[in-house]
Amino acid sequence: MPAAPLRFITFEGGEGAGKSTQIRLLAESLRTRGEKVVVTREPGGTPGAEQIRALLVEGGAGRWQAESEALLHFAARAEHLAAVIRPALADGHWVLCDRFADSTIAYQGYGQGLDLAWLWTLRKHIVGATEPGLTLMLDLPVEAGLARAETEQRYERMGLDFHRRLAEGFRAIAAAAPERCRRIDAARAIDPIAGDIRAAVGARYAMTL
Ligand code: TMP
Repeated sequence: MPAAPLRFITFEGGEGAGKSTQIRLLAESLRTRGEKVVVTREPGGTPGAEQIRALLVEGGAGRWQAESEALLHFAARAEHLAAVIRPALADGHWVLCDRFADSTIAYQGYGQGLDLAWLWTLRKHIVGATEPGLTLMLDLPVEAGLARAETEQRYERMGLDFHRRLAEGFRAIAAAAPERCRRIDAARAIDPIAGDIRAAVGARYAMTL
């Protein structure tokens, strides 16, 4: 029998897909059932990883070599896994994370053109057995997402072609891991999206939400 999926749910997608609203709603649904939930984000989630986040999301688009950028994301992730994600899972919490390793494959691999095999090798070393049990890919046309994005940070300034490539990346990642990834049509109102997310969580973890 395959191992039960970790109660580690990641939310992925391009800019402006409404991930934070949907994470908040799913956390509320789980807490209403008496579940313990940790909500966190990447890059970030620990004081050190939040400092790395500032290095990554601020400044000019060409601030980093793509390799340096990928390594900074993985450095932040190693801190986050050790200090927050693994302890919370071990303590029986659900962990809901706004972005995780699929973002590195999509943004730094498909978007910035880094070698995908190298990124997957790093991922295996850093993430190990702590791969998400479920990844919700919030899918929205690139132009609509960029128009909705609330901030004007470094990645939002990387151009339409960059954002089209990473959208294609998320689709390829989802196609290669259909047991873990669910595509959610994010071009709708908040409630139907939240309903689909609850259904996906219910199906994956054999529970009613
Ligand atoms: P956020 O705006 O969704 O909080 O994420 C911060 C930015 O960091 C977002 O534009 C995507 C980008 N990012 C990467 O490029 N690689 C990564 O591995 C992660 C986690 C985020």
